[in-house]
Amino acid sequence: MSLDMGSSLCRHNVCFCMNRLVVISGANGFVGRNVGMFLSKNGFQTISLVRKGKTVTFGKTITSETLSENSLVSKIRGSDALLHFIGKGMQTVNSDYTVNVGLAKNAVALCKKAKIKKIIYISGLGVDKHTTLGYFISKYKAEQEIILSGLDYTIFRASYVIGRDDPLSKNLKQQLEKGQMIIPGSGNYVFQPIFIDDVSRVITMALEEKKFSRKIIDLVGPQVVSYNTFVKKFLHGNKIRVKKIDFERAYHDALHNRGPFGIDDLGIMIGSYVGNHKKLASLAQMKFTRYDTVLKARGLS
Ligand SMILES: NC(=O)c1ccc[n+]([C@@H]2O[C@H](COP(=O)([O-])OP(=O)(O)OC[C@H]3O[C@@H](n4cnc5c(N)ncnc54)[C@H](OP(=O)(O)O)[C@@H]3O)[C@@H](O)[C@H]2O)c1
Repeated sequence: MSLDMGSSLCRHNVCFCMNRLVVISGANGFVGRNVGMFLSKNGFQTISLVRKGKTVTFGKTITSETLSENSLVSKIRGSDALLHFIGKGMQTVNSDYTVNVGLAKNAVALCKKAKIKKIIYISGLGVDKHTTLGYFISKYKAEQEIILSGLDYTIFRASYVIGRDDPLSKNLKQQLEKGQMIIPGSGNYVFQPIFIDDVSRVITMALEEKKFSRKIIDLVGPQVVSYNTFVKKFLHGNKIRVKKIDFERAYHDALHNRGPFGIDDLGIMIGSYVGNHKKLASLAQMKFTRYDTVLKARGLS
C-alpha cells in the first residue's frame, strides 16, 4: 500500500500558492527533512539552515551553527516563514536543553532582522506552565520566546511523530537488533502517534491559512495507543524477547546513561499525554492516517 501524497496540495478545490520561500532550521533532522521534501515537492522554495557537514537533498542549503550569524540575514531576507525545527530531546554535560531555549531566541531575532513575519515551532505534547520535566521546561520557555515575540506564530505540541527513521522507531529497531525489546513498567501508559506525512500537510496549511495564526495546537494522531500495543504491532509477529523491567531499574539505567531510554523519555512515557485530535482535525479538515496503517505500510520495523 502506498501512503504517498500527490505532488500538489489542494483542499476545497484550491491549490496552495506556489513560489513561497520558507526557511527551515534543523532541516536535516527527521521532521525537517520530511517537511522540507514535502514543501519542495509542492512548489515551495526552501532554504535549509544546517550545521557544518550536514546536508539535505532539497532546495538551497546554508550553514549555520547558532542562527545568529550576521551573514545569514541578507540570504534569507523577506522569506515568508521560518520553520524552527532545531531541538534536543536528551541532554548531556556538553549539550543541554539551554539549546532549545537559546536557539528559539535566536530564531526569533533572526526573523525580526530578516523581516520574516511567521514562525512555526514544534513543542511537545504535555508542555505547560506547571511542568517539572527538564525537556518540557525548555520547550515551554522556547514557546514563550515565540509567543511574546510579536511575530505571527503557530506552535504545535507534538506527540511521537512516526515515519521512516523517526526517533522512536530507530530506538525500537536498535533494541530489535540487540535481540530484546525492553518495556519499562506495565507498558499500559499511552501516547498518540501522528504520521509524518500528515504533519507535513498540517504544517503546510499553517504556512498558508490564517486560522492557524497565533495558536498552540496539539499535533496528535487519531488513535490513543498503549506502549505495549504499539510495540506488539511494531514487531509484526517477530518472535523477539520482550522484557518488562520495573521503573526503578529503568530509571537507574537512564541515570547511568545505559539502556534504551533517557530520563526524560521515561517521564514522557509515564506522563501518558493525550491531546485534542478533534480540534486538529477540525482545523485541518483532512483525514489523518492511523498509526497501525503506518506501521504496516512503511514496515517501520
Ligand atoms: N520527532 C518527534 O516525535 C517529535 C515529537 C515532539 C517534538 N518534536 C520536536 O520537533 C523538532 C524536530 O524533531 P526531530 O524529530 O526532527 O529531531 P531530530 O531528528 O533529532 O533533529 C533535530 C535537529 O536539531 C538540530 N540540532 C540539535 N542540536 C543542535 C544544536 N545544538 N545546534 C544546532 N542545531 C541543533 C539537529 O542538527 P544536527 O544534525 O547538526 O545535530 C537536527 O537538525 C524538535 O524541536 C523536537 O523537539 C519532535
